[in-house]
Parts: sequence; C-alpha cells; structure tokens
Amino acid sequence: MTDTLTDPIYKTDALIAEDIDAYLKVHEHKTMLRFITCGSVDDGKSTLIGRLLYDSKMIFEDQLAALEADSKKVGTQGQEIDFALLVDGLAAEREQGITIDVAYRFFGTEKRKFIVADTPGHEQYTRNMVTGASTADLAVILIDARKGILTQTRRHSYLAHLIGIRNIVLAVNKMDLVGYDQAVFDRIVKDYTEFARSIGITAFTPMPISGFKGDNITGPSANTPWYTGPALIEHLETVEVNSAADADKPFRMAVQWVNRPNLDFRGFSGQIATGSVRPGDAIRVLPSGKTSTITRIVTLNGDLDEAVAGQSVTLCFADEVDCSRGDVIAASDNPPQVADQFEATIVWMADEEMLPGRSYWLKIGTQTVTATVQQPKYQVNVNTMEQLAAKTLELNAIGVANLSTDKQIVFEPYEANRTLGGFILIDKITNATVAAGMLHFSLRRAQNVHWQATDVSRDFHAGLKNQKAAVLWFTGLSGAGKSTIANLVEKRLARMNRHTFLLDGDNVRHGLNKDLGFTDADRVENIRRVGEVAKLMTDAGLIVITAFISPFRAERDMVRQMMQPGEFIEVHIDSTLADAEARDVKGLYKKARAGQLKNFTGIDSPYEAPEDPEIRIDTADMTAEEAAEAIVARLIP
Ligand code: ADX
Repeated sequence: MTDTLTDPIYKTDALIAEDIDAYLKVHEHKTMLRFITCGSVDDGKSTLIGRLLYDSKMIFEDQLAALEADSKKVGTQGQEIDFALLVDGLAAEREQGITIDVAYRFFGTEKRKFIVADTPGHEQYTRNMVTGASTADLAVILIDARKGILTQTRRHSYLAHLIGIRNIVLAVNKMDLVGYDQAVFDRIVKDYTEFARSIGITAFTPMPISGFKGDNITGPSANTPWYTGPALIEHLETVEVNSAADADKPFRMAVQWVNRPNLDFRGFSGQIATGSVRPGDAIRVLPSGKTSTITRIVTLNGDLDEAVAGQSVTLCFADEVDCSRGDVIAASDNPPQVADQFEATIVWMADEEMLPGRSYWLKIGTQTVTATVQQPKYQVNVNTMEQLAAKTLELNAIGVANLSTDKQIVFEPYEANRTLGGFILIDKITNATVAAGMLHFSLRRAQNVHWQATDVSRDFHAGLKNQKAAVLWFTGLSGAGKSTIANLVEKRLARMNRHTFLLDGDNVRHGLNKDLGFTDADRVENIRRVGEVAKLMTDAGLIVITAFISPFRAERDMVRQMMQPGEFIEVHIDSTLADAEARDVKGLYKKARAGQLKNFTGIDSPYEAPEDPEIRIDTADMTAEEAAEAIVARLIP
C-alpha cells in the first residue's frame, strides 16, 4: 500500500533523496503531536506501534531527532530551553547512570510529526508511564477486544488523566479475532464510558482496530462498515495539540535566562507557556509584581509582531524592572498566583521512600526552591482508585499531601497550566529525581498567617545576655559520648556566665518528641522539630547545645540553613562503631545485635558522618574533658 508513484509517502522518500534541505523545510512547519501508548505486549502494543511506523512510513529517525533538537534551540547561546521539566530531571539522573526506561519513537506523515512514548505496562513501571505521559498530548489506551477492560486499562486511564492528558483514544484492538463484531466493540465502549466518567474523563475517542491486520489504522476498513469514525492515523493527524489550546490562555512565560550582551540590550528569554504576547502589551513580573510594557519580541529570525504558546523568544521591557531567572512574566491584568504552601498530588519515583519533613529541591517552571512534604493525606490504589491511609510514599506510589516551600513561588493549578503547575522533587544529596507532582491549589492558611514583627530583636536578646547566639550541634553514634561531652561543655560555658541550653536526645524524646520512634521518617521529624526549637532559642539569644545522633546529612544541613551564617557549629563526636559498641553504656547494642531492637543506628540503620564539620572530636584521642575544652575554645577564642 505504500509503493505507488502517487503515494505521498513515496514522494517523501524521493524528496529526502533529492533535496534533504527542502525536505527538512517542509517538516519544520508541521505541528508535532506527542502521544503515549498504554497497554501491554499482550494487548498488541508492539504490533500497533510497528504498524504505525510502517504505515506512516517512518521518516528517518535521526533526521527527525535532529529537527527536534533544532527547534529546541533558541538565542545565540544555543541553550536548550524547551525540555520538559521532567525530562530535565531524568536527564540529570541518567548522567549518573540511573536509567528510567521510556522508549521514544519518532515518525511523521505528510501532515504531522509524532513522538510516541512507549512505556512498559506493569504496575512497577508506573513512574515510567508518568514520565512518558508528562509531555504527551494524547494517550492511546489499547484494549484486547477478547478481554475487555482490565485492571491495567483502569490504571493507565487514571494515570493519563491525572497527568493532564485530555485526548484519550480507546483503541479496541484485535477486532479480527472477534470477527469484527460490532456488539463486542459497543459493549467495551459502554463499560469504558461508565468507568471513565467515574474518574473524571469526560470524552474519549473509541476505535475498533487491528494492529496486526491494519484495520482502521490509515483509513476506513472494509471489515468494519458499521464504524464511521476516523482511522487512528487520521485522528492523530488532526486532533488539537495542547499548544493550540494553550494559546488561548492568559500570557505566561517563565524566564530561563537574562540576555544582556551589552548595556543597550536587556532581554528575558524563555518559552511561552500559555497565551500570546505583542509589543505594547502590559506585563507583570512575578513574584515581585512589578509592571512594565513589552517593547520588542526578539528571535534569531528577527523581531516578531506576536508570539504564542510554545515559541521561544526574548522579550524586552520599556522599564528597568528587576527580572531574573525563575521569575514569570505574565499578562498584567491576569497574573498567576504566588504562594508557599500547597496541596499536591505526588508520584513517588525513588527506591527510597518519601520522608515527610525532609528538604528536597523543588523545580517548577524555571524556579528551584527548597520544599518539604507533610505526611500524605492519603495514597491512591492505582488499580481500584481507592484512597488509603499512608504515612509515607514508596516507589510508584501516588498520594496527595500538603507541601511548603522556603520561598514564594509563582504557580497555577496543574489543571490550568502544566508548566506552572507541574514540578519535580530532587534529592539534595544524590541529585536524583525522586518525585513528580501536580499542584492543586495554595493553602488558605498560607495567605492568612503572617509573620508578626516583634520589637525586641534577636540581636537585642543576645546583647542583653552579653553574648552571640550559637548552636553547637553534636552528632555521632549512640554511645559515642555526645551527651557526656555536651554536658561538660555546658558546665564550662555556665562558669563563664554564658546563657546556654542543652537539648538532649533522650530527654526531648520524653516530652516534645515522645510520639516519635526510630524509623527514618521519625528521625527526620525528630531533627526537624529540634531544629525549630534550637532556632527559637537562638532568637532568644541563647547558646544552644544539642546532642542527637542526627544520622542524616540532609537534616543537619537543613538546620544549618535555618540559622544565621556562622551560627551553626557542627560537632562530630567521632567514635568507631566498635568503640561505641564496646562501651555500650545502656546495653542497647547488645539488644540490637540480638535482634531485640530494630533500626539501631550503625547496626541496621545508617549513620551519615559529616563531610566537613566545624569541629571533629576523635574520641580515641581525647578525654571528654579535653574535648569539652577544645569545643569551648573554638566557640569563645
Ligand atoms: S536520632 O537518630 O533521632 O537523632 P536521638 O539522638 O533522638 O536519635 O535518640 C537516640 C537515643 O535513643 C540513643 O542514644 C539511644 O539511647 C536511644 N535509642 C533507642 N532506640 C534506638 C535506635 N533504634 N537507634 C538509635 N538509638 C536508639
């Protein structure tokens, strides 16, 4: 069916052979549809993809990939700015040798270019599917006509809808194996309609196909005269892509970088997320809220009279307003919101479970901030859509939780804007992408709780006590000697008339933190609370001494960030596990070795030693008194 001279695909081949430049030009102006295929090998997914590539006569993959790359580059720097958030994170991850498998295939027809993300179907690959779906405009949900709707169909539909895909094709495959029976098709469509409605899918396009035989792939099949809808490729060629719908929304562009080659030119480069912009438009820069007017829209091919969603441009303003990477330029009369507390859906993608209270990097648009997630409100069973109670989220789990950021971010609900509502979470230490998420809304309490300015300042508090506030943060294994040395340090400081307070692990766990145990999550929360208390005490002008194992670098770093520069002094009480265990003052190591005490630090729970502490005490080298003397000497030279 592809070898007659009149066939457009044949002409494509001829054009490629004769004049590659002309060919690429033709393709440059085609729209691009990204879609995802859901289903398993059993449903005939590979056959269908093979069929699409074959019947559309896949154009040379490398050429299309090159085209793609070209369209992503703008500006003289040739920086790539079109990469979806998630792909960004995953690319970073891939550099570190961790691969999340999504196969992207490129093909094209005379009307459109296509990128199909082929993701594995099983539940343990939920994160792969979410990755593939995050940039897709459309999902083809494959069903085996003989089997009807399966758990997997529900899961994939739920995920596709969750990730914001609004074009769903229900491809009822293997129609040849049910004798092209309309009744079979109708029953599946009826069942699916019911299910789809229950999860919020309001429209979908059902098609009876056979990937194997080619029915209703490129054109109407004689085997299904009762079907009057479009063939699959026809539909893929004509369905509206997201960028077209995005063009009708209010104008928003996240600033990727500031372009200032000389004093006469200052432009802000990025890709327009939604809406359109023209010279003369009034804009607002967020989060600052400063306003100005667009004077020029600059591109490599000259200035434009108008630019729309999906285009990468450099904007110039009439005024010298502050605007930098991470800011969002928006229509002045219809700006997005700014907030620091949200409800969000989170898809957990790391092998290690989510730790509520831990600080992660949150990347949204071009903004990167620090965020902490609270204990989930619930987790969703992706097979039944039931809401289950959850303390944390494990690999591939999807849940809803509140989160807060250390700075205000510019955002929109994911429903309205995938660029300004979709985010990823990154582990601060390993740089791995650990989650993808979708913001629902900002929490009203964030808008209603304001910081109360007080007149007696923290400096004044410290001044009254004739000292500078500080935190001596002891960390080390259980039995290393933290409490003993901390106690001696406090006594010495008291003798020097310093105002101190010692927070000790065992003691705090009797009161404030008596609800916490020794799981990773509980230890994170333990240190978060102690950090907050220590912070309040430094505000009161005290020298705070803390003695907690505090086994994780991430939380110690988080507390450091909470304090003023120079105020946090990390003291590593460094003892070998063997020494601490030999001492075993409380008999806990013995219990742990006997299996009577779970999650014991150093035995079956990790200890991450500080890499660069302000003070390191080698307990084999020094007595407790000598250690205390050295620490005090460092604090008060
Ligand atoms: S931390 O890891 O969350 O920082 P923290 O310093 O508060 O721990 O408490 C540690 C003390 O609790 C230890 O000194 C020990 O006396 C006691 N403890 C009880 N169970 C454990 C355990 N599983 N791991 C470590 N310490 C434990």
